[in-house]
Amino acid sequence: MTQPALSPRFSNAFAEVVHAGLRKHPQKELPSMYLYDEVGSALFEVITALPEYGVTRAEERVLKDHATDIVAAMPGDVKVAELGSGSGRKTRRILEALCKKQPTAYHPIEISRTALQLCHRELSDIERVSIVGHERDYLTGLSEVSSKRKAGERLLVLFLGSTIGNFARLAATKFLRSIRGMLQPSDALLLGTDLIKPLPILIAAYDDPIGVTAAFNLNVLARINRELGGDFPLDAFEHVARFNPDARSIEMHLRAKRALSVRVRDADLRVEFREGETIWTESSHKYATGEVAPIAADAGFECTHQWRDEEWQFAESLLVAR
Ligand code: AVJ
Repeated sequence: MTQPALSPRFSNAFAEVVHAGLRKHPQKELPSMYLYDEVGSALFEVITALPEYGVTRAEERVLKDHATDIVAAMPGDVKVAELGSGSGRKTRRILEALCKKQPTAYHPIEISRTALQLCHRELSDIERVSIVGHERDYLTGLSEVSSKRKAGERLLVLFLGSTIGNFARLAATKFLRSIRGMLQPSDALLLGTDLIKPLPILIAAYDDPIGVTAAFNLNVLARINRELGGDFPLDAFEHVARFNPDARSIEMHLRAKRALSVRVRDADLRVEFREGETIWTESSHKYATGEVAPIAADAGFECTHQWRDEEWQFAESLLVAR
């Protein structure tokens, strides 16, 4: 990400991002991380329960079926760090398998304090687990956890749910390289990736018939109205999910149904929309099974194991730092 060269015009990072993103030409955009406020995160939880969105259930199946194999691939003293604490449901399988062998420290890293509290509540009943939350961005948190380990302790980093899919391919490799930079040889990263599948299935997963994903997407405009004094008429925008064949990603957009002008008071902004113009709000990149290992190798990892869900087509890969 590029940093603004001058001192920021706004005290609030969200205002800064909205100002810059909605002035982009030809494609207006809002970074996907702003979809996940309290309302957005709650809506995402509902998405994971939709029959059309198979990603989360697929990963839960893989982790349920293979937690013992995953843990067996990491012998010795292991400390677990997780990038994004999620709901804790998937992580439980790994922690239970580890705690059967030895007392285990679990370090969720998450910028939302509420999410950390939820995760603590969800997992603290596991016998012999100790939970230490880090209210930090991923890389800052990870360097904290990695540098404070005991001698001989291996780090297992969890990056689940296909969150890596939010990054474009080149940015994903760079991000994995940054993670690798904080690890020592024989530490490992467990990486969840959603796989390429037939287009109608992919589209339905991001454009469900009861409109939960649409609400999740539109919430970012509601959030601008709530937090920055915006006047987006929400009924003038519609949710769009489309496949980008060059990037091999599903893109979510918000499309203006008519020409209109919007003001965002606290972002010092007035923007015009043409009829049909969109704001790009999120990308979910989809991988081929054979694609993970070379990307990992490029970032300094060896892909030693891969477990797949055949029903939905999802891969969990164990990447060991070289
Ligand atoms: C949380 C980024 C993994 O890309 O599948 C789901 C987000 N957006 N439906 C995904 C999402 C719309 C999700 N990730």
